[in-house]
Amino acid sequence: MGQKRVVVGVAGGIAAYKACTVVRQLAEAGHSVRVVPTESALRFVGAATFEALSGQPVHTGVFEDVPGVPHVALGQQADLVVVAPATADLLARAVSGRADDLLTATLLTARCPVLFAPAMHTEMWQHPATVANVAMLRQRGAVVLEPASGRLTGADTGAGRLPEAEEINTFAALLLERADALPHDLAGQKVLVTAGGTREPIDPVRFIGNRSSGKQGYAVARVAAQRGAEVTLIAAHTAGLIDPAGVHVVNVSSAQQLHDAVVKHAPEAHVLVMAAAVADFRPVRVAQAKIKKNPGDEQAPTIDLVRNEDVLAGAVRARTDGQLPNMRAIVGFAAETGDENGDVLFHARAKLRRKGCDLLVVNAVGDGRAFEVDHNDGWLLAADGTESALESGSKTLMASRIVDAIAAFLDGARG
Ligand code: CTP
Repeated sequence: MGQKRVVVGVAGGIAAYKACTVVRQLAEAGHSVRVVPTESALRFVGAATFEALSGQPVHTGVFEDVPGVPHVALGQQADLVVVAPATADLLARAVSGRADDLLTATLLTARCPVLFAPAMHTEMWQHPATVANVAMLRQRGAVVLEPASGRLTGADTGAGRLPEAEEINTFAALLLERADALPHDLAGQKVLVTAGGTREPIDPVRFIGNRSSGKQGYAVARVAAQRGAEVTLIAAHTAGLIDPAGVHVVNVSSAQQLHDAVVKHAPEAHVLVMAAAVADFRPVRVAQAKIKKNPGDEQAPTIDLVRNEDVLAGAVRARTDGQLPNMRAIVGFAAETGDENGDVLFHARAKLRRKGCDLLVVNAVGDGRAFEVDHNDGWLLAADGTESALESGSKTLMASRIVDAIAAFLDGARG
């Protein structure tokens, strides 16, 4: 991605200090960043900090740098406006179209995507006034992120934390790649996502694992949640990923635990996305003590394996048997390589038939592709025979395309 013009608005909340990381990462990504704090934001972080991090002047009012007309120019020229943190007061002022400082004036003149990352106390977030303001901003096309849950200022915890800077910037990057990637179109949908790689224990210190990083599944969970879905993420092992904001995360380790968690949560879900790399086999016996090599004994132990249940196929069966009356879309993933019998798509089509799911996301793997990397490309196959290429891009962009396909599938099933 080339250099873009990004305005970072900062409202006056304690989370303003986290805006420093947002600005720094955007600048490090090569973008031209202008920071526009409110007066009260400057009571938390000084203008000098934002100027140093962005390398650009910082103003708060419409009467500073008048010849440059920044209150009009900044918004008009921006490719993206990110407001982090967006306080309850800032959201209210944005809704009412106020232009009493440089940030609100910029919001009025911006025609690019606008991303609000709210941060406030839970009571403020849940107040009907804020709820209505958020709904109005979304209706007007802005993206208002779900806040994270957790420790707030003081002793209280709950929904209202600013998502991590990495997460805000993941969405910023997504909107720069694709301006319409985050419509609020999944409200009311319960989405169950599995992600990461399972570990099958051999003894207390060893396991059979796989190279899945969990990135693609996390990206699907993250995007679905910000598009309004109520998301539960069953997370096996990942490359230290941060929990997506606004998502209920259930941690598991082995294929059996993942299976049990899916069985527990699937009856409520409308959509199941099986992005996890689930081990097909596990050791028959798990040694209770560490397996030792005996001195002088050159023999290596043999580990007998037994098949794990196929979670995806089990969910398809349960739906067919009428046990999942809410379930409307089941999405499988396939990591394939071609071989002497056929290419990637040949194997993927066979897998779609075998698994019986509604949609199959297909990645070509091997030669360092797909695993442990940030980019991905592939195909989306549907049970009705339609096939589309997933253009190459970040895993978050891929996730937005996958969620598009799910939304379209739900619409089709509804119609
Ligand atoms: N999957 C599952 N349970 C398993 C193994 C896989 O639910 N025990 C799911 C994965 O989450 C994925 C899909 O099945 O959505 C395809 O996984 P993959 O490993 O490609 O398929 P396999 O059935 O293992 O096929 P094969 O090993 O023959 O390629």
